[in-house]
Amino acid sequence: MAMYNEKVMDHFMNPRNMGEIENPDGKGVYGSPVCGDMMQITIRVKDDVITDAKFKTFGCGSAIASSSIAAAMIIGKTIDEALALTNKQIIEELGGLPDVKIHCSVLADHAIKSSIYDYAQKTGKTYAGLEGFDPNADDDDHDVEGCHGEACGGECEKK
Ligand code: FES
Repeated sequence: MAMYNEKVMDHFMNPRNMGEIENPDGKGVYGSPVCGDMMQITIRVKDDVITDAKFKTFGCGSAIASSSIAAAMIIGKTIDEALALTNKQIIEELGGLPDVKIHCSVLADHAIKSSIYDYAQKTGKTYAGLEGFDPNADDDDHDVEGCHGEACGGECEKK
């Protein structure tokens, strides 16, 4: 049985929105506390709407597929809407990920929030969705909806 569905494979083989925006309005880099893989997301923002997003992922295929689809999901969204995006929605949009790969979608979710955090810092804006968010926290893999980290091997998802 194949481990990854066709959509995940498609976004892994043909990633959308890969690269880096020059002089971005926000830039977020996040390293997974679970596996050490890294992701960078740069965003362009106009009138509080994300008009462009590009990612660079130094990580596994699931992380590349997650960042590809996550970047596509936030383009055209307001900052508040993008902040409301959860790793669970990223997984749903991908049509599912194996349990042990759930943390890879957390990488995309966290990198997006980090890029918005950077934008907020630069512009002096505040967003309710950033409350309590720490871009440098490395222990939050237990806080993200649908993900309790890899330590349990995905068992928590089945309970
Ligand atoms: Fe590291 Fe997927 S194994 S992000």
